[in-house]
Amino acid sequence: MQQFQKTNIRGIDLFSGFLSPDDQALMVGDIRKIVEQAPLFSPETSRGQKMSVRMTSAGKFGWVSDRRGYRYESAHPSGVKWPEIPRSILSVWRAVAPHARAPESCLVNYYSDTAKMGLHQDRDEQDFSQPVVSISLGDEALFRIGNDTRGGKTDSVWLRSGDVMVMGGEARLRFHGIDRVKPETSTLLPKGGRINITLRVVT
Ligand code: SIN
Ligand code: MN
Repeated sequence: MQQFQKTNIRGIDLFSGFLSPDDQALMVGDIRKIVEQAPLFSPETSRGQKMSVRMTSAGKFGWVSDRRGYRYESAHPSGVKWPEIPRSILSVWRAVAPHARAPESCLVNYYSDTAKMGLHQDRDEQDFSQPVVSISLGDEALFRIGNDTRGGKTDSVWLRSGDVMVMGGEARLRFHGIDRVKPETSTLLPKGGRINITLRVVT
């Protein structure tokens, strides 16, 4: 953690510059270990469309999506158990959501230069009183936030490497997504792109 700036966008808390460059490098090392055990895969929507992000998970549950729909599973599609959530990541949850239960899922999303994520709500969890904590690493991304129902006005903000966001309370079910990644805006990942980590309580 370093000196950061806290702002609020439509109820979402954004901690800009929360992680120092050293914190970020350490976290990327821990994410590499997750990916070695539980490789990134390309999820499909239930309609059979490939999503542009590649993903994997750590923790008790991992989020998967295929033709059978969206759900949490206790193993990687290969059958291996999800790795444990690294301490470097757990410590962010404790710092920004000190009153929340322990996270049960740590989703790792990798965005190449052309990847994006359409507007959606995070609602596959059982307890919406628990926040979602999101960590951005690598290239900058344009995050869009809307309302609790589809449609209406939206606001956008660029998320930078080391930024942390908390979607909790009244903002827990806001529609949100990533419009685009801006290539070559960070030197953290040697091959470029962006990693987003999302921590959630599932049960
Ligand atoms: C997500 O909503 O699952 C990801 C958001 C992000 O990549 O910042
Ligand atoms: Mn989401």
